Amino acid sequence: NPNYLKMEGSSGLQQVSCRAKGGAPGFKVAILGAAGGIGQPLAMLMKMNPLVSVLHLYDVVNSPGVTADISHMDTGAVVRCFLGQSQLEDALIGMDLVIIPAGVPRKPGMTRDDLFNINAGIVKTLCEGITKCCPNAIVNLISNPVNSTVPIAAEVFKKAGTYDPKRLLGVTMLVVVRANTFVAEVMGLDPREVEVPVVGGHAGVTILPLLSQVKPPCSFTPEETDYLTSRIQNGGTEVVEAKAGAGSATLSMAYAAVKFADACLRGLRGDASVIQCAFVASQVTELPFFASKVRLGRTGIDEIYPLGPLNEYERVGLEKAKKELAESIQKGVSFIKK
Ligand code: NAI
Repeated sequence: NPNYLKMEGSSGLQQVSCRAKGGAPGFKVAILGAAGGIGQPLAMLMKMNPLVSVLHLYDVVNSPGVTADISHMDTGAVVRCFLGQSQLEDALIGMDLVIIPAGVPRKPGMTRDDLFNINAGIVKTLCEGITKCCPNAIVNLISNPVNSTVPIAAEVFKKAGTYDPKRLLGVTMLVVVRANTFVAEVMGLDPREVEVPVVGGHAGVTILPLLSQVKPPCSFTPEETDYLTSRIQNGGTEVVEAKAGAGSATLSMAYAAVKFADACLRGLRGDASVIQCAFVASQVTELPFFASKVRLGRTGIDEIYPLGPLNEYERVGLEKAKKELAESIQKGVSFIKK
C-alpha cells in the first residue's frame, strides 16, 4: 500500500501528504524554520521518531523540497508542507508540540545577542500564530538568543491571554550534550553514561555547567574545571569559527533538539521521571527565567528542580551569569512592551 503524493501547486498550497501507516497513535509536531540548517536534519530525525504521527514542516522558503524528500522515508509519521506566512496558521492548527529553529545563525565574530534584531521579530510572529492556532501546544524554542527569545515568547502569549509557563521551554540541550561529551573526553568515560547539569542561560558566561554535580561523580583539578567550563561556554563559537561564515551548529543541534523534543513527548505520553535541563520561567533564582533541571509531564513542566549545592567556583559563576542574564531577559521583555 504505497504512499501517494498530492501536489497542489496551482493553489499556492504545495502539500505533500501520505496515508498514515497502521494508524499508530502519536503526537502532532510542527517545525517552524524546517528548511534551515537545523530544520532539515531535525525534520529527518523527527520523521524517524515513533512518537510522532503527524509532522508539519513550515518555512518561508524551500519547505516543499524538504517535505517531498523526507516524505519518502518509510517511517510512520505523515509529513505535510507549509510555505510562507499565509500558511503559518494551517501549519499550527492542532499541534501538540511546536519546535522553532527559525531565524538567522551566527557568523564568526558575532555573539548570540547580535542576532536579536532579526530573530526577535521572527519569534514574535511565529508565537502570535501559536496563540491563535494551538495555544495549548508545548513550545520548544531554539532560535537565538534564547535568553531573550523565551521572554519574548512569554510576553506574546501573555498579551494574548494564553500564557502557560509550563509549556514554554528554551532549548539548552546542546550545551548539555557538549558538556557530557567534553567531560567524558577528559575523564575517559563513555559520553552516554555522563550527565552534566548545565544551568543559568544559553550564551557565554550565562552557561553554567555544574561540574560538582556530574554523574557519575568525578573530581576535577582546578585546571580541568577551568578548561571544561570555558570549552562548554564557548562550544558554539568553536563551531561558528570552524564553519567560517557558513553558519553555526546545525547537526549536533538537530540531534540535541530531537533528544529534547523526544523527552517532551515522553512526558506528554505520561512516562515517569523524564528530566532534562531547559531555560524556563522559574523561581529557582530571583530572575524570572532560568535554566535548570525540569521534570516533563502530561502538561509540560511538572517540576523545576533547585540548583542543589554549589561549590565556590560555581557560586562565583552564578553571580556573573545572573548579571548578564538579567539584561538579556529585560531586552526581550522590552521588545514586546515598547
Ligand atoms: P538557517 O539560516 O540555516 O535556517 C533558518 C531557517 O529559518 C531558514 O530556512 C529560514 O528560511 C527560516 N526562517 C527565517 N525567517 C522565518 C520566518 N519568519 N518563519 C519561518 N522560518 C523562517 O539557520 P540555522 O543554522 O538553522 O539556525 C537557526 C536558529 O537556531 C538561529 O537563530 C541560531 O542562532 C539558532 N541556534 C540555536 C541553538 C541552540 O542551542 N538553541 C544552537 C544553534 C543555533
